[in-house]
Amino acid sequence: MLSNLEPQSPDALLALIKLHAADERTDKIDLGVGVYRTGQGDTPVFGAIKAAERKLLEEQTSKSYLGPEGDMGFVTALMPYIFGADPTMGGRINGMQTPGGTGAVRLALALAQKAGVNRLHMGTPSWPNHAQIINDLELELVAFDHANTDGTANLDALLGAIRGAGKGEAVLLHGCCHNPTGIDYSAEDWEAIGDAIAETGIFPIIDTAYHGLGHGLDEDVAGLRSVLAKVPEAFIAYSCDKNFGMYRDRVGAFYVMTEDTDVLDKAFSNANALARASWSMPPDHGAAAVRLILRDPDMTAQWQDELTQMRDRMRQVRSTLAEAGMAGSVDLTPLGTQNGLFSVLPVSKEQVVQLREEHGIYMAGSGRVNIAGLTMGNIEKFVNAIAAVTG
Ligand code: LMR
Repeated sequence: MLSNLEPQSPDALLALIKLHAADERTDKIDLGVGVYRTGQGDTPVFGAIKAAERKLLEEQTSKSYLGPEGDMGFVTALMPYIFGADPTMGGRINGMQTPGGTGAVRLALALAQKAGVNRLHMGTPSWPNHAQIINDLELELVAFDHANTDGTANLDALLGAIRGAGKGEAVLLHGCCHNPTGIDYSAEDWEAIGDAIAETGIFPIIDTAYHGLGHGLDEDVAGLRSVLAKVPEAFIAYSCDKNFGMYRDRVGAFYVMTEDTDVLDKAFSNANALARASWSMPPDHGAAAVRLILRDPDMTAQWQDELTQMRDRMRQVRSTLAEAGMAGSVDLTPLGTQNGLFSVLPVSKEQVVQLREEHGIYMAGSGRVNIAGLTMGNIEKFVNAIAAVTG
């Protein structure tokens, strides 16, 4: 039986982790997978998480099952940060815990499919795993250009996709810190997006994996909130893997907004059944730590301080790159106004290989760079290498 299987190539992004680890050059630079790094190049556990884990160790009395919805204390504690002062919008929003943001995206797409969605509109480039999940579910993917060549968001392409959509269609949006481009919609764009969705009835699915890494906790979800204020129904996939630094602990949540509470209950009975049939129950540890942080004002303040430091450092790297201006044929100026961990450089696949082999600089084949892999100590080497391969 098993010899019938076709070999699959390893996930290109995850393969980079191993390639980088095997490189013995001491001045190598890892701009691959999306993890935050400090100015010293480390990805430490947040102090707030360490404090919450100590508390958890002392106070947790059982590891008995919780159910497919996971830790609902975690799910509700996050809601004011995502949805604002009326976090359930009058009882129209609820959520459940998922294994990371990927689990939330998977659940969102599977539930949308169960509700009748068969075509999904998505701006490209996008996080490569979006397309993998869409393909795996055998949904039809309709791609439009996410960005214009001048580095701005291509709002017209998105509005065209939304306005042309018919029955059974959904649109997948990045809430903030677009992966891979770092190019987000403006406040005015989000207003127009919400209006267009409300007019056509296309189903919105908003993936928010980098909350707080762009401009701030409120700023980064302002677009999402403006859409939710206009539309009757939506799915939100959320990740704490980046903004709490919980990567391998897989801490995510899936939220549903519906027109009324009856529909909400029906949606969650289906979401629970889908979760039960795939991962049964999400891993507890990370979500429990996040819950403890968000229920304790001191730990919350510590977490927010740590998140602010991350954001400020990435802004500093972005400004330094923007000030460098041209590196060979690559204009680094737009990186200054882009958001989050990622930006895409206009380099060819061959130049990406050359950067890796000749300069020890690791980035995705698409030219995506993880801004947090740059420090004040290696940025000059990076800019010079880009100039050398593209000049
Ligand atoms: C990334 O895009 O690098 C991250 O979201 C990590 C992942 O799972 O791909």
